[in-house]
Amino acid sequence: MGKGLFITFEGIDGSGKTTQLNKVKTFLETKGYNVITTREPGAMELGKKIREILLHYEGEVSDKSEMFLFLADRAQHVEKLIKPAIEEGKIVLCDRHTDSTIAYQGYGRGQDINILKDLNRIAVNGIIPDLTLLFDVSLETSQNRVGDEKDRMESSGIEFLKKVRNGYLELLKEHPRRIKIINANNNIETVFEETKTVIEKTLQEKLGV
Ligand code: TYD
Repeated sequence: MGKGLFITFEGIDGSGKTTQLNKVKTFLETKGYNVITTREPGAMELGKKIREILLHYEGEVSDKSEMFLFLADRAQHVEKLIKPAIEEGKIVLCDRHTDSTIAYQGYGRGQDINILKDLNRIAVNGIIPDLTLLFDVSLETSQNRVGDEKDRMESSGIEFLKKVRNGYLELLKEHPRRIKIINANNNIETVFEETKTVIEKTLQEKLGV
């Protein structure tokens, strides 16, 4: 009990965080850790249905309903998967979490940041990441990596993405101990070296290894 670890991966679309998450999984497993990977939205059965609406529904989705849908997904995910896994002593690597809501729905869509913080607090019920890796990438690289096949969120435009990226940088200032920035403009191996250094420091600090 209490030996688990919760690490979240954040960044704008095309930051390469999912590639890094998978590399971190392999790295930690080789070291003998019990690791699970998961993501938001869409890790649970319920979440898959919510994800389908959020990313592919072609009808109207108001900004407020979008906000509640991401939060509904999170509430189920934390209670049924993340919390139990941490309690079992696992290392949980999660692709996007609370900071995505502040960056996308708050800074991006303009929803009230303080209300979003309260809603996040209700959804996670005390479960807070030990470490958040923010993969920061230029808007240009992001656009090139995402390409032309865009989902509903990715179709929100470059101005939106710019606000989201700035939002992440504000969050970094606000939570310098939890959030660590990684320069994600570099190639995969260089980014991974930087990522590994941060992860090793956290293992040392949090698990004493
Ligand atoms: P996904 O395909 O998982 O994209 P990525 O590989 O970039 O993580 O799509 C998730 C999308 O949902 C992404 O555009 C960010 C957005 N999102 C929010 O707007 N708010 C949230 O709270 C979360 C978790 C994701």
